Amino acid sequence: MKENVKNDIVAPLYPNISSRTLVASEQAHSKRRILVTSALPYANGSIHIGHMLEHIQTDIWTRFQKMRGHQCISVCADDTHGTPIMLRAQKEGISPEAFIAATREEHLADFTDFLVEYDNYHSTHSDENKALCELIYNRLNQAGHIERKTITQLFDPEKQMFLPDRFVKGECPKCGSDEQYGDNCDSCGATYSPAELKNPKSAVSGATPVEKESEHFFFKLTNFEDMLKQWTRNGHIQQQIANKLDEWFQAGLQHWDISRDAPYFGFEIPDAPDKYFYVWVDAPIGYMASFKNLCEKRSDLNFEDFWKKDSDAELHHFIGKDIVYFHTLFWPAMLEGSGFRTPTKVHAHGFLTVNATKMSKSKGTFVKARTYLNHLNPEYLRYYFMAKLTSKLDDFDLNLDDFVARINADMVGKYINIASRCANFITKRFDGKLAKDIANHPLIVEFQQASDTIAAYYEEKDFGKAIRDIMALADKANQYIAIEEPWVKIKQEALMPEVHKVSSVAINLFRILSIYLKPAIPEIAKKVEAFLNVGPLCWEDINQVLDNHTINKFKPMVQRVDPKQLEAMQNESIEANSEPEQPALAEPLKPEVEFSDFDKIDLRLARIVKAEHVEGADKLLKLQLELDGMSKQVFAGIKSAYKPEELVGKLTVMVANLKPRKMRFGSSEGMVLAAGPGGEDLWLLSPDEGSQPGMRVK
Ligand code: 2FM
Ligand code: ZN
Repeated sequence: MKENVKNDIVAPLYPNISSRTLVASEQAHSKRRILVTSALPYANGSIHIGHMLEHIQTDIWTRFQKMRGHQCISVCADDTHGTPIMLRAQKEGISPEAFIAATREEHLADFTDFLVEYDNYHSTHSDENKALCELIYNRLNQAGHIERKTITQLFDPEKQMFLPDRFVKGECPKCGSDEQYGDNCDSCGATYSPAELKNPKSAVSGATPVEKESEHFFFKLTNFEDMLKQWTRNGHIQQQIANKLDEWFQAGLQHWDISRDAPYFGFEIPDAPDKYFYVWVDAPIGYMASFKNLCEKRSDLNFEDFWKKDSDAELHHFIGKDIVYFHTLFWPAMLEGSGFRTPTKVHAHGFLTVNATKMSKSKGTFVKARTYLNHLNPEYLRYYFMAKLTSKLDDFDLNLDDFVARINADMVGKYINIASRCANFITKRFDGKLAKDIANHPLIVEFQQASDTIAAYYEEKDFGKAIRDIMALADKANQYIAIEEPWVKIKQEALMPEVHKVSSVAINLFRILSIYLKPAIPEIAKKVEAFLNVGPLCWEDINQVLDNHTINKFKPMVQRVDPKQLEAMQNESIEANSEPEQPALAEPLKPEVEFSDFDKIDLRLARIVKAEHVEGADKLLKLQLELDGMSKQVFAGIKSAYKPEELVGKLTVMVANLKPRKMRFGSSEGMVLAAGPGGEDLWLLSPDEGSQPGMRVK
């Protein structure tokens, strides 16, 4: 067959895409210096797939920039300070330092196993962060951006600590709903201050909080209003955020309370004993600190170059839409006020839902990163997230059926299939060597020409659009193979050159697709590189063609997803999120009873007014119990532990409404409560004196 005839056959399959705007082309030429961050995960919980959405998004973007030849550095850290982490460590009976160290290990292992590759993963509880917090604070203070004001807050008199809003619970002042937090009501949505709650209780100790005054430090955000308004309009944020910021400007900026009183796990404010930086002050500074820590390890990086006021390096923050306020108001203002550069871009994403609803522990859709990894390949999720991510803030659904379809039909069925269909012909019939003179094949050219558009989508985080184009190309490659039918032609010796050419073109198409997909599926890309017998592929390699080149034998690169794996993952999630398992008891529990059954039992305080041995009974004492005028006779099996005379006059707890039981020695009209292994070690419950016999026990 002649080249031009073949072109006629396949021509309708590839419309000309070179006319698309080539947005990314100029950027490809100049080497950029880019620092990228993901939001720092709190150190008091495990990483779940909601976190992974962001970290995978960041990682794909970072890997793309690296492949483009830019100097792109990504840093992250654990966000370690604040009251919840301090209390959690106390509960576990370890120091906060030991607690956060263990969590950091766990988080880092999760990210690493999801192939999220940070150049540095640090901690906000670090020397670098402490020094930078002090520097920034001192500069802000000296420039008149900090003021002190005495405020009144709820204080736990038992625990001797001020209570953050989330640590006060009570009745909603609007709708009366019980068990509501101190900042807003889950039931009616009202927002209020903790002091407005009715019957407030400390969630830490259960004590009733009192109001107490304390001096706090405030960052004067209003000093930066003009600067922030300008920054907002200069292309640093998405349109949806800019609109939100306009609302906030209209509502009026407030000074920001940046201090917390001891006890607090964090950094002390300079020259202010017992005053600590609020966790949200040192968290974003943690971005700088992680980078600083990296600079100490790498001689090719210079902290100042990236953070000085007029730096031409780029600074990109990837965050969830819930923390936009911190990153687009407080953070740029803090940086500006302390003489540092402001962010180039803040990229916010929406939240992850699973099967169109909020992640749910009971449905098994609240999936921890580790639980996912126990059952599924991380590249499935990376690919799926890539296929669904947009540059907008809309929420993002992980639909489990769609997940299976995208992996099996697209990633394996379309993309990997191209190589698996053709590789064997090359290996078996052509000694592993690709054909010569295929560089100008129109399909190869078309695949190459898609590069700028796909790169522009990557740059803009329109990953879903990139995948759409990449899969459209994969469709074309598959149609080309289907039309050429190399498995038919191979039966005729005369058509062998055709088979060689078609297979070689297909392998080249596969190679280009692999470059396009590499930021999302780096491990598969490594297998592709081994198969193609080439070094690490970068973006520029798209323009090269592999011809007259020996490749290796094709080995399967990824398995299809079995829906059973997803089921197993969900089941493990349900189990992991249910109540912690109780250790088995030597004497197993009796079957559960309803509360209404339990409520039938009337427990009362009773005074033992008489106690005596029972003739002929080894274990029993006969007790006369007095309940506020009512008298009960009880035979109790406590003879081995108590002498009768020790008991007289003592208070104890009895089941007062037990039906009288006829015993050999007389009628027993109740039971006394005692605990212990038996013998001498048996203790009657004996409440404090001062309680009144007859009182109901609650
Ligand atoms: O919302 C969160 O999970 C915070 N730990 C994010 C901190 S981001 C940054 F500012 F450090
Ligand atoms: Zn309410």
